Amino acid sequence: MSARSAATPPSASPAVALRGLVKDFSIGLRGVKLRAVDHLDLTVAAGQVYGLLGPNGSGKSTTIKLLLGLLEPSAGSCQIFGLPCDRVEARRDVGYLPESPYFYRHLTGRELVRFYAQMGGLRRAGLAVRVAEVLHVVGLAEAADRRVGTYSKGMLQRVGLAQAMVHDPRLLILDEPTAGVDPVGSAAITELILKLKAQGKTVLITSHLLGQIEDICDRVAILDRGRLVLEGSVPDLVGRADRQALVVEALPPGELEELRAWLAARGRKLESVETPRARLDRIFLDHVGGKKP
Ligand SMILES: Nc1ncnc2c1ncn2[C@@H]1O[C@H](COP(=O)(O)OP(=O)(O)O)[C@@H](O)[C@H]1O
Ligand SMILES: [Mg+2]
Repeated sequence: MSARSAATPPSASPAVALRGLVKDFSIGLRGVKLRAVDHLDLTVAAGQVYGLLGPNGSGKSTTIKLLLGLLEPSAGSCQIFGLPCDRVEARRDVGYLPESPYFYRHLTGRELVRFYAQMGGLRRAGLAVRVAEVLHVVGLAEAADRRVGTYSKGMLQRVGLAQAMVHDPRLLILDEPTAGVDPVGSAAITELILKLKAQGKTVLITSHLLGQIEDICDRVAILDRGRLVLEGSVPDLVGRADRQALVVEALPPGELEELRAWLAARGRKLESVETPRARLDRIFLDHVGGKKP
């Protein structure tokens, strides 16, 4: 244990640590302030997919901008892998997909990712290979030499993911990566996030579409008006240890009554009998899954 922790000091620190984070925006002339982030404490362990959830305006993007050092906090602090977030070394280990990415529409996907790769400090040698590699990973190999202006919303998000991951950062921060993307595109993006997790990356992802990312997050935090209202592992939050659901092939009514009686004889009650529903997005994907967004 001690030998292992001595060998891996950076991952001993959480990927993200927010402590007492506050952000007030001045709005109006009379010094009126809006508290967008309200005393937020949050820890994201390395290697997790962490969902920062909440309705529009709950402070998700502001929290991320504070973490990236794009905004100054009014109080509190943020650390990335144990380093204050305003240190250049801390930011080198981060890839960021902004909420409404503004990309240079006249560049091709390949040119755009190459530009960000150079900004991320990648050397010339091996640059073209790395750029081609990430474009392939996000499924844009064929469209790499098309102008970004011709991309669909799903493709724009994927080229955004490519630029975020091209310098191989340990932490990826994705602000609403599936917003406005159709189910096929969203499925491609969630698959990609799981691939990143399998490589040991930490992914901090925001969403106001809770159902879409529930399946891929290890833990979630729910914000409301800048405050943390709920935090925990997804199974702990959604599971009910005091109930069990069994799914069986359709039972004839007689057997259902026998089952009810069998349970009653043991002092238990059959609370509900339902016909399970497939999720609509699953049905959609089963029928159109072959098409690219
Ligand atoms: N630059 C800004 N100036 C003033 N108010 C802002 C600014 N950025 C965000 N806000 C406000 O802060 C609150 C949180 O916004 P935001 O972090 O974008 O929420 P979310 O990403 O959860 O939708 C909102 O009320 C928003 O209007
Ligand atoms: Mg936002």
